[in-house]
Amino acid sequence: MIDILKKDPKKIVFTEGTDARILEAASRLLASNFLHPILIGNAQEVEAAAEECGYNIRGAEVIDPLHYERMEEMIDLFCELRKSKGVTREEAKKTLAQANYFGTMLVKMGEADSLLGGATYSTADTVRPALQLIKTKPQNNIVSSCFILVRPSATGENEVLAMADCAINIKPTEDELVEIAGETAECAKLFGIDPKVAFLSYSTLGSGKGEDVDKMRNAAQKTKDKYPGLPVEGEIQFDAAVSPRVARTKCGDSEVAGHANTFIFPDINAGNIGYKIAQRLGNFEAYGPILLGLNAPVNDLSRGCNAIEVYSMAIITAALA
Ligand SMILES: CC(C)(COP(=O)(O)OP(=O)(O)OC[C@H]1O[C@@H](n2cnc3c(N)ncnc32)[C@H](O)[C@@H]1OP(=O)(O)O)[C@@H](O)C(=O)NCCC(=O)NCCS
Repeated sequence: MIDILKKDPKKIVFTEGTDARILEAASRLLASNFLHPILIGNAQEVEAAAEECGYNIRGAEVIDPLHYERMEEMIDLFCELRKSKGVTREEAKKTLAQANYFGTMLVKMGEADSLLGGATYSTADTVRPALQLIKTKPQNNIVSSCFILVRPSATGENEVLAMADCAINIKPTEDELVEIAGETAECAKLFGIDPKVAFLSYSTLGSGKGEDVDKMRNAAQKTKDKYPGLPVEGEIQFDAAVSPRVARTKCGDSEVAGHANTFIFPDINAGNIGYKIAQRLGNFEAYGPILLGLNAPVNDLSRGCNAIEVYSMAIITAALA
């Protein structure tokens, strides 16, 4: 991804310009010169914070929503984008004083290619402006998300998996799961995964019964129909999805069973718990949530993130642009 950015450097907005972890990541990015950081905040406060933490952010662009020269134009565009909600100029001005909305509008206006926030904002407060202003791609119905999980293997080659949707859609419908699977498979390819998609359940090919079993089976079938070239299996239990031995017993002849690397969970409960088990007990590094289906890349950090995670997520986010 660094190679992609070296060929075509991008700009990334950081909404929390005075946060020490953001400043450390920005100073590293500035030193390597393939990604141009834009820090939101008051210039003096940002510089003072950087000085106090000992990070060199010379060359970073700092933009203060309270002194932004294109603010009138931004307000106009914001009102236009939110006209169905009857937003007044006064309300728009107040909203755009907040770094999450202001930063998102910088991407919308083409001043930046991507945005990374959430070091202090909640997921909802980082994601909502993107849903409302950057919006879903024309061919998509929803924005969703995936995590990329990476674990060095004994042979020295990284084991790389994709999991979705662990962060955005709380209870996706059958059709939403189809979209999530398609987007996740595309994203997985960017990380070198040759996607083999498993629609996870507590049942394997009819062994159990229930509404969620039907949902996963139907979603798997619809995904097969929609993406004929994509290897898909479901509904399938996790053991049958990853263990060739269990797969032989439960699934017979399946291209995916036993070798799945792209996992679609029935809902956010399963997804969020599932990726964290892989991260905490399986020694996988987790990158994400990577938002899928937006018109421009915007990503959300965990509030417990460290500077290395900010740096990695900034590279991933900008490379997606
Ligand atoms: C994504 C999420 C944050 C949106 O929350 P919200 O802002 O309260 O949701 P709302 O229903 O008020 O929707 C806000 C706007 O986003 C849009 N939206 C909501 N979910 C969307 C989705 N999945 N895709 C596209 N647009 C969506 C709505 O249509 C609405 O647009 P509008 O203002 O133009 O009408 C919500 O789904 C959520 O909380 N998900 C779980 C987040 C979480 O806790 N994750 C675990 C930790 S990582």
